[in-house]
Amino acid sequence: MLILLFIFVALFNAVTPKYSHHNESLANKLYNEVKILCWVNTWPKNHKTKARAVKETWVKRCNKYLFISTERNNELGTIALPMRQQHMYLWGRTKAAYSYIYKNYFNDYDWFVKADDDTYMIVENLRYMLYQYDPLSPLYLGCNLKSSFKQGYMSGGPGYILSKEALKRLVTIGIPSRKYCTQSEEGAEDKEIGRCLQNLNVTAIDTRDRNGKGRMFPLAPGKHLSKMSHSDSWYSRNSRYPFKVGKNCCSSRTISFHYVTPEAMHIMDFLIYELNPFGFKHDEDHLPVKK
Ligand SMILES: *[C@@H]1O[C@H](CO)[C@@H](O)[C@H](O)[C@H]1NC(C)=O
Ligand SMILES: *[C@@H]1O[C@H](CO)[C@@H](O)[C@H](O)[C@H]1NC(C)=O
Repeated sequence: MLILLFIFVALFNAVTPKYSHHNESLANKLYNEVKILCWVNTWPKNHKTKARAVKETWVKRCNKYLFISTERNNELGTIALPMRQQHMYLWGRTKAAYSYIYKNYFNDYDWFVKADDDTYMIVENLRYMLYQYDPLSPLYLGCNLKSSFKQGYMSGGPGYILSKEALKRLVTIGIPSRKYCTQSEEGAEDKEIGRCLQNLNVTAIDTRDRNGKGRMFPLAPGKHLSKMSHSDSWYSRNSRYPFKVGKNCCSSRTISFHYVTPEAMHIMDFLIYELNPFGFKHDEDHLPVKK
């Protein structure tokens, strides 16, 4: 009896499409055409909690993923780079990570995505957005914040994306030279890389959809979907583009949120990829026109 049950479950899993209510053929086409390497910045204290949840949920949908940390962890398969642990050295750690990625993976991928271990990404929507751009142009995409320098920078929490050309300029021209990038290890990685990429003539792209709704969010989903609390008003002050909170906050092709707990990652994965209200026809998918 038990054996029969196992056989049934195995058969069921084999024949059930993974994303039953999506046009999987189009997602598969983009998987092969828009090649994404995702690197997750993590810390030894988060290996068993946050990083594990990232591995069990969204990150496997990238064409390649790397967990970059300071200690080895076989379960995650972390890359342990000799970097300083403290948060204040995040800029040094980020430079080391990009140098490693450039050296080992530059040829194989088009786009290089950085995420934190509490970032949740819908990778298919990321590919959909990136499809229209040429990875051989110097581009940088994310949630754009204002800064003292002209094009501002992309908030680190929701993740940000470098085109192949942007990664090349960063590692081969920017990082070695004080003319372009801050040479010390200290500093806020997102702001530092933004300044550096601007100096390298890498263009910051507006990632809002054609209705002007954002796709990459620096706060937890609930903060954008409901009214943000007063303490989150820094986003109102620093966002480069106007945005809404509440029902109209977020594009139906949303790409990422930040401050997602391990438990919430599993909830989001279920809601997005498994749960499917009966009787709705999914709207037809169209690819965007290439720029
Ligand atoms: C799914 O996408 C494929 C490839 O573009 C297309 O030919 C097909 O008509 C789509 N199917 C549906 C149900 O939208
Ligand atoms: C950036 O653009 C300016 C103005 O066109 C040019 O002078 C400079 O050499 C460029 N720098 C890099 C690193 O491409």
